[in-house]
Amino acid sequence: MNILVTGGAGYIGSHTCIELVKAGYNIIVADNFVNSCMEAVNRTRKLCGINFPFVEIDFTDYEATDQLFDKYNIDTVMHFAGLKAVGESCKIPVEYYKNNLDSALSLLLAMKKHNVKNFIFSSSATVYGADAPIPYNESTPVSRCASSPYGNTKLMIEYILKDAVKAIPGFNAVLLRYFNPVGAHESGEIGEDPTGIPNNLMPYVAKVAVGKLDMIHIFGNDYDTPDGTCLRDYIHVVDLAKGHVAAINKIKEDCGLFVCNLGTGKGTSVLEMVKAFSKSCGKELPYEFAARRTGDLPAFWADPSYAKEQLGWVAKKGIQEMCDDVWHWQSKNPNGYSN
Ligand code: NAD
Ligand code: UD1
Repeated sequence: MNILVTGGAGYIGSHTCIELVKAGYNIIVADNFVNSCMEAVNRTRKLCGINFPFVEIDFTDYEATDQLFDKYNIDTVMHFAGLKAVGESCKIPVEYYKNNLDSALSLLLAMKKHNVKNFIFSSSATVYGADAPIPYNESTPVSRCASSPYGNTKLMIEYILKDAVKAIPGFNAVLLRYFNPVGAHESGEIGEDPTGIPNNLMPYVAKVAVGKLDMIHIFGNDYDTPDGTCLRDYIHVVDLAKGHVAAINKIKEDCGLFVCNLGTGKGTSVLEMVKAFSKSCGKELPYEFAARRTGDLPAFWADPSYAKEQLGWVAKKGIQEMCDDVWHWQSKNPNGYSN
């Protein structure tokens, strides 16, 4: 099977390339480097042990996307490409809608023209919305409106794919709803490399550990949770990548629409995360409690039982391994890919 990995130079895409090659799939990797760089591709090629084809392309370019399908024989699209910063999406929502929706639509049109019928989409737990009962399971209806323009692009693309499955005979769409991906490849060669000051917890903590930032600010310690800080379902990025490989079996079964959570089923608090990271890097990391961050939910995690039942997939790596691997990546590459 030949798989087009869009956004394959990015954090989750690069880790998934390795697992796909390990599992024997051919990959064609494509990215426009809006949030990544060629060095990530070079390192991923090395870890894969093959020089897989790479195409620099902006998927909002409908013509270029179509030409990509002329050039390569593609059976399945694994669509990671997208803008993903929640805060930024509130500041420039139109750019987010354009990038994320146009990319999905140009791919779907090119697929239709070239008779490619398999699409695996990077969705997010954010589609469940603020009022969903915990743990989130796949029969929970999605929210009518997500809490950010970013989240809305995920909801909208989910709707587009659901309609495509109804209308196009033989079309398969797998919607994978990720929880909080963290961690890095065990080699320490690839990992998450956000530009500027990170918004998400794990890369922020890693930058404090490596001395690039002074202090962790824990947003809120008065939530109704065991230690007062928020609970999230952190999932190791390599487990997440393996979940994608497992999802290909659903495509092989001609699943039509298949929706699945990729999470561990465990909630971990911000404080627990900071303590686990301190253990990984061998020093107490400085932190202070700060005001709650607008829009944060106190606690959510996945019900992972459907993934186990349907994909035979279970996340195996625990919090300590996630922190150890981030520390390995960050300490080996204090400046990320721009060493
Ligand atoms: P990332 O930014 O590291 O990777 C996305 C890649 O897509 C980047 O390399 C970027 O350059 C590329 N890209 C963006 N727009 C493009 C375009 N128009 N054409 C070509 N390439 C383009 O992000 P990630 O963390 O690896 O996330 C991958 C996917 O998973 C995204 O769709 C994201 O929304 C989704 N997701 C991520 C998380 C998370 O916490 N990381 C959680 C849920 C869902
Ligand atoms: C964020 C996104 C969500 C996305 C998810 C995937 C927001 C509001 N939501 O979720 O849409 O699906 O990533 O990973 O950005 N925290 C601190 N200090 C920090 C940073 C974070 O205390 O410097 C806390 C947050 O308040 C939160 C927890 O750490 O309780 C996790 O935050 P983060 O890593 O940003 O992820 P989410 O907000 O859960």
